[in-house]
Amino acid sequence: MENLARDRATALFGAEHANVQPHAGANANLAVYQALLEPGDTILAMRLDHGGHLTHGSPASITSKIWRFVSYGVSAASSDPDKPGEIIDFDQVSDVARRERPKLIVAGSTAYSRIIDPLPFREIADSVDALFMFDAAHPPGLIAGKAHPSPVGVADVVTFTTHKTLRGPRGGLVLCRAAHAKALDSAVFPGAQGGPLMHVIAAKAVCFSECMKPEFKAYSEQIIRNSRALAAAMSSRGYRVVSGGTDNHLLLADLRGNLPELTAKKAQETLDLANITCNKNTVPFETRSPFQASGIRLGTPAVTTRGFREADMEQVADMIDTVLRSIGTPGEAAAVAAVKERATALTSRFPLPYRV
Ligand SMILES: Cc1ncc(COP(=O)(O)O)c(C=O)c1O
Repeated sequence: MENLARDRATALFGAEHANVQPHAGANANLAVYQALLEPGDTILAMRLDHGGHLTHGSPASITSKIWRFVSYGVSAASSDPDKPGEIIDFDQVSDVARRERPKLIVAGSTAYSRIIDPLPFREIADSVDALFMFDAAHPPGLIAGKAHPSPVGVADVVTFTTHKTLRGPRGGLVLCRAAHAKALDSAVFPGAQGGPLMHVIAAKAVCFSECMKPEFKAYSEQIIRNSRALAAAMSSRGYRVVSGGTDNHLLLADLRGNLPELTAKKAQETLDLANITCNKNTVPFETRSPFQASGIRLGTPAVTTRGFREADMEQVADMIDTVLRSIGTPGEAAAVAAVKERATALTSRFPLPYRV
C-alpha cells in the first residue's frame, strides 16, 4: 500500500522520491530540517505575521529551539492596481540571504493568496549556496491540477499536506531529489515519528489517484474562480482584500476599514454561530495581537467540492457582511439566526457528494 501511494505521488508530481509517512505537514517540515541541517543552522523563511507557518520559526514551535530562523516578508500595501502591494519582497529575500548566509531557504505560507513562484527563490538559494525547501502545504491540489506552477524539480525538497487543496486524508508528504532520499526517509522514521499510519497512507493513495483524473483539474480551476469571485464580492462591500485579490484557494479580508472596532476573533466566533466557518488571521503589518487579529481567512475548496459557483460566492459574501455588520447592534441575534437559515438553505441545495 505504501509503495502504491509513493508511486502515485511521484508520478502525479514528477518527483524523484516520495515519503508518504508524515502524519501532518508540521512533521514533514521537521523531518526535512532534520535531514538537511545540523542543530543551530540558519533557516530563512517567511515572517509569521506576513503569512509564514509556525514551523517556520515561531517561538512557540520546537523548530525555533533547534534552528536559528531569520525572516523575509511582503512589501507594503499599495493602492495602485498596477503595482499591487503585500506580495513577497524578493529584494528583501535576497538581502537577508546575503547577510545571514542561511543553510536552507523556505518558501511557502499559510495565509498568502498569491502564486509563489519557486524560480526566484531557487536563484537566491544558489547565489548563497543554500538548499531550497518549498513548503507547499496549501496549494498542492492547485499544483496537481496544473493551475499553479510546480516547485517539484526546482526546489531540493517539497513538503505538502494532503488534507487541504489535495482533498485527501489529514496528513503530510515529502517529495525530494534522489540525492536526499535516504537522509529524508530516516529523518521521518525514526527521526520525527514512530510507525506509519497505514489507514491514512491507503487514503493518500486513493487521493493521489483522484488527483490524476480530469475532474480534479476542473475542480482546482473552479476553486480559484470561486476564490476570485468571493474576493471581488467582499471588496465590493468595502472590505480590503490583502494584496488586492487572490490567485489561489484563499483570501484574507482586512476588517479594519469597514469595522475598525471589530476583532477577527469576534468575527470568527460570530460567523460560526451562523454556520459560516473561517478563521481569524493576522494581516501584514498587523496592529493587534495574533489572538485578536484583524483579518479573516476565507477558503473555497470545501464549498467548491459541494458544487458552489461564482454566483453562490456572491451570496456567501453577502451573508458574511450581514453577520459582521450586525455585531454589537441590537439586531445581532436576529441577523445571525437569519443568516444561519440562509446558509443552511444554500448548502442544502448542494449536498455533499459523499455519504458520511
Ligand atoms: C505553510 C504550512 N506549513 C505547514 C503546515 C502544517 O500542517 P499540519 O497542520 O498538517 O501540521 C501548515 C498548516 O496549516 C501550513 O499552512
